[in-house]
Amino acid sequence: MKRGFSYKSIPGWFTFPKLYQLAVADAREGDVLVEVGAWAGRSTAFLGRAVKESGKKLRVLVVDTFQGSPNEQEMVSAVKLLGGSIRGLFETNMRLAGISEVLEIRQARSVDAAGSLPDRSCSFVFIDADHRYQAVRADIRAWRKKVRPGGMLAGHDCYTYPEVFAAVRDELGRDFITTDENVWIHPVRAGVRSKQKALAKVTGGTRQKPGSRSRRREEAESCHKLFQ
Ligand SMILES: C[S@@+](CC[C@H](N)C(=O)[O-])C[C@H]1O[C@@H](n2cnc3c(N)ncnc32)[C@H](O)[C@@H]1O
Repeated sequence: MKRGFSYKSIPGWFTFPKLYQLAVADAREGDVLVEVGAWAGRSTAFLGRAVKESGKKLRVLVVDTFQGSPNEQEMVSAVKLLGGSIRGLFETNMRLAGISEVLEIRQARSVDAAGSLPDRSCSFVFIDADHRYQAVRADIRAWRKKVRPGGMLAGHDCYTYPEVFAAVRDELGRDFITTDENVWIHPVRAGVRSKQKALAKVTGGTRQKPGSRSRRREEAESCHKLFQ
């Protein structure tokens, strides 16, 4: 890592360090952790450092089109300014963070990348890509079966976007929790209820409560600030 460099100097929307630490702590030697939606790499840098510091042999697979989310104008404009892709900036940031060697980058649409992987081949998949209702449902359907029993499927922005919460609820029924990090978590099989309880304890989670309007506004404002 470049001296003095911190993931905090990378623009982004990262609000979930406790979940990433839990995913790394839970992982077994040889496991693959997936981040779908990396943007400039703020959350990826944190995850990569946690992997390196764990001393375990883990791989982080990053899936992104590097084109920005189609319905998020500020991302689309930023990508335009960068000449059509944010991948170069992402790779530079990963080098500065000193984590390039634990990363595998897949520049692809989320569902296409999932389709190219064997079932049950990942211990953790985190979805933070296209936040529209149908897209989140499609992502959950595509990635759920890629997580091995005992692993976690999770995602961002369940409080920021009501359509994300609705998609998660409509796809997973009652098999998920939400936490104070603005994430939803679906523990994959292997004693779902006991694992939910354990997760709630560790992450300070609450069960399936959509955020209040003011909470969502605060979240959105802090996201915009982060981006500026
Ligand atoms: C909100 S940003 C990710 C933020 C990042 N996790 C952080 O915490 O800073 C969403 C990213 O998802 C990517 N994306 C949007 N739709 C996608 C899709 N269908 N497949 C792959 N990546 C997608 C965008 O290019 C963008 O980089």
